[in-house]
Amino acid sequence: MAALLLLSLLALFFWQQPSAAAALNCGGADEGASTLQVIHVNSPCSPLRPKTPLSWEDSVLQMQADDKSRLQFLSTLVAGRSIVPVASGRAVTQNPTYIVRVKIGTPAQQLLVALDTSNDVAWIPCTACIGCSAATFDPAKSSSFKPLRCGSPQCAQVPNPSCGGKSCGFNTTYGSSSISAGLAQDNITLATDSVRGYTFGCVQKTTGSSFPAQGLLGLGRGPLSLMSQTTSLYQSTFSYCLPSYKSVNFAGSLRLGPNSQPKKIKTTQLLKNPRRSSLYYVNLLAIRVGRKVVAIPPSAFAFDPNTGAGTVFDSGTVYTILVKPAYVAVRDEVRRRMRGAAVTSLGGFDTCYSGPISVPTITFMFSGMNVTLPQENFVIRSSAGTTNCLAMAAAPDGAVNSALNVIASFQQQNHRILIDGPNSKLGVARETCS
Ligand SMILES: *[C@@H]1O[C@H](CO)[C@@H](O)[C@H](O)[C@H]1NC(C)=O
Ligand SMILES: *[C@@H]1O[C@H](CO)[C@@H](O)[C@H](O)[C@H]1NC(C)=O
Ligand SMILES: *[C@@H]1O[C@H](CO)[C@@H](O)[C@H](O)[C@H]1NC(C)=O
Repeated sequence: MAALLLLSLLALFFWQQPSAAAALNCGGADEGASTLQVIHVNSPCSPLRPKTPLSWEDSVLQMQADDKSRLQFLSTLVAGRSIVPVASGRAVTQNPTYIVRVKIGTPAQQLLVALDTSNDVAWIPCTACIGCSAATFDPAKSSSFKPLRCGSPQCAQVPNPSCGGKSCGFNTTYGSSSISAGLAQDNITLATDSVRGYTFGCVQKTTGSSFPAQGLLGLGRGPLSLMSQTTSLYQSTFSYCLPSYKSVNFAGSLRLGPNSQPKKIKTTQLLKNPRRSSLYYVNLLAIRVGRKVVAIPPSAFAFDPNTGAGTVFDSGTVYTILVKPAYVAVRDEVRRRMRGAAVTSLGGFDTCYSGPISVPTITFMFSGMNVTLPQENFVIRSSAGTTNCLAMAAAPDGAVNSALNVIASFQQQNHRILIDGPNSKLGVARETCS
């Protein structure tokens, strides 16, 4: 039965559209000053897409597996804690699903780095890196490259710095990967903006499969993130719009700095949690399924600086994860609306139907801001439209991070998410960017 269901779900989205690349402008002109094109890692325009396109159900399962190690990574961000991840049995690809083009060094070398709003340090695979993919940055060919010394203030800001030699090195984990890097500086070019002496990890060794093929751009809130290093240029302000998975025309955008940001946008207060200082926490109060506010104990959403519990927006998790009592309340209301229609599952999704789901909207009610999502943001649908799953999941039982709710990229696509650092606000507006 499960196999039959899986078969019936075959092929949707870009996995079945390899020929679409020809119709696209993959040359990747960024959109002008301070605005970078954002593409899905599996987009026809992405050189990092799988060589053999995955079937629809495989890609759904793959992304669920990636989310598991993502959640584990988010949990390792609890200050002072380093958890060695359990390697997943599946061969997973990289976690973060959206990439942007940056140039590093003098003369500039181009890389397609993953966008990660929950990580601070940028990680760039450097020449001779063990375990990295083919595309690397060659420090020897850049006249502006500088390794950072052990005594540098930046060295004190990375996890587990090692000061054996003269230059600063560190080891860390990321999803199912471990990473060894040297801390370095070089110029980075973002669209037309040049940032001098940008600090990043020059990756020398990586194991596991979560490390993004061409590195990662950290847009988190900590001291070594892009935003913290460019406060005079971008004033801790950026926004992004993630394109829909379904669209062939896959370019969203990352806008850096206060210029050309939406002026009218609903916002909620950003909260800072010292236990996970990189993450963008918000105050989620309740969830509405259709017009009904479902009964969820307030403790499910409680923000707790002592444990790191609360709700975050993350660009690197695909499907929204809610703590169990919250997920169960949402799911049960969806099921109630289906009036006893036979429910099936697909991997970690436990609420699938062989027909449309009769819930028009789900609303996340944050303090000061209600975000009402249309079905495209909470129902994942097979190509024939016959199978529909609620595209959210419960946090695993007993996980160290079980108290973290994650508003993930499937729920964010075709919305502009604004991070307004100076006013400590997070904004959300509908925007069709794909
Ligand atoms: C790169 O950095 C060096 C200083 O390290 C600077 O002299 C040079 O102008 C920078 N290049 C660009 C393109 O900004
Ligand atoms: C990091 O890992 C490398 C081996 O990959 C090891 O040689 C080095 O001592 C480690 N550094 C720290 C600070 O643990
Ligand atoms: C959100 O919606 C609820 C009704 O479900 C309403 O009472 C509340 O005022 C709304 N909040 C905002 C900020 O609009």
